[in-house]
Amino acid sequence: MQEEILRMLRESKTYVSGEQLSKQLGVSRSAVWKAINGLRQEGYVIESSTNKGYHLEQVPDIVTACEIKNGLTTHSMGQHVVSMEEVDSTNEEAKRQGGAGAPDGSLFLAERQSSGKGRLGRSWSSLPGEGIWMSVLLRPDITPYEVAKITLIAGLAVCRALRSASGVDARIKWPNDIVVGGKKLVGILTEMAAESDRINYVVTGIGINVNQKQFPEEISAKATSLYLETKTPWARAPLVRSVLCELEDFYDRFITEASFDLLIPYKELCVSLGRQVSVQRGDQTITGTAVDINSKGELVIQTKEGNLFPINSGEVAVQGIYGA
Ligand code: BTN
Repeated sequence: MQEEILRMLRESKTYVSGEQLSKQLGVSRSAVWKAINGLRQEGYVIESSTNKGYHLEQVPDIVTACEIKNGLTTHSMGQHVVSMEEVDSTNEEAKRQGGAGAPDGSLFLAERQSSGKGRLGRSWSSLPGEGIWMSVLLRPDITPYEVAKITLIAGLAVCRALRSASGVDARIKWPNDIVVGGKKLVGILTEMAAESDRINYVVTGIGINVNQKQFPEEISAKATSLYLETKTPWARAPLVRSVLCELEDFYDRFITEASFDLLIPYKELCVSLGRQVSVQRGDQTITGTAVDINSKGELVIQTKEGNLFPINSGEVAVQGIYGA
């Protein structure tokens, strides 16, 4: 009922009377009053006047299902939303619910993660209110071998969404870190459950640094946030919607259009190409120039001897970008 009341308050520029709300929803005035108080507790500022009724003055920066779905134009991404105050990791939750049959495009969000996961077994700091901690569950009909492309699609979609929503000059560090001016703005962790030749589901976990005003000293040279880049706080729900729209657009084209070449838009935004890079392969360090991304989505490194090494995973250090 809170959702319905919120919708009616949003649609009205003027006050909506308690009577109107209770009639339209077929509930008592005191039930309306309780729901209004519930909304206030979530942070909505709702004016009430004895004669006029209720008026929505301010919407809080929260990432509840109701806020995400308000104005969401996708057909599948984020149509099923699970938003939590706290969870171990949204990727873990997505995997649990993925195993239990949650639909393609399901979105899992949390205000805070107690065990946020990064790539290569690292942890991911996920404090409340500061960022977007979200995972999208996908059920693509592709082979496990093609999942690397989903990783690139996620990076491309998030990069495009943040560029258009905030105006920051976000770029992709292969395969899917999003960086601004050499510092990391977004980390993406893709996991999957598969059998030898078919995928059960893929979980794309996206951590976006949004409103951090500073980072702990040990990472302040490597990490940035939208706030730090633009000197303005950002409402998170509209950013989530932009990510979902871009993700759906690229994902749908990838799944349905045989001629869609993801690498064309990807390479335009990939900051790794043309730079000096190095990557550890067993006990060998491969150093050279990143010259291409091949059709498998691998980063191709050319050594100074002219040898070409396609790299499909691992931490690639890029000169001029954090970590290098
Ligand atoms: C990286 O190391 O760059 C990947 C970081 C991924 C963080 C996100 S936050 C939402 C989702 N849940 C997690 O536990 N991790 C991902």
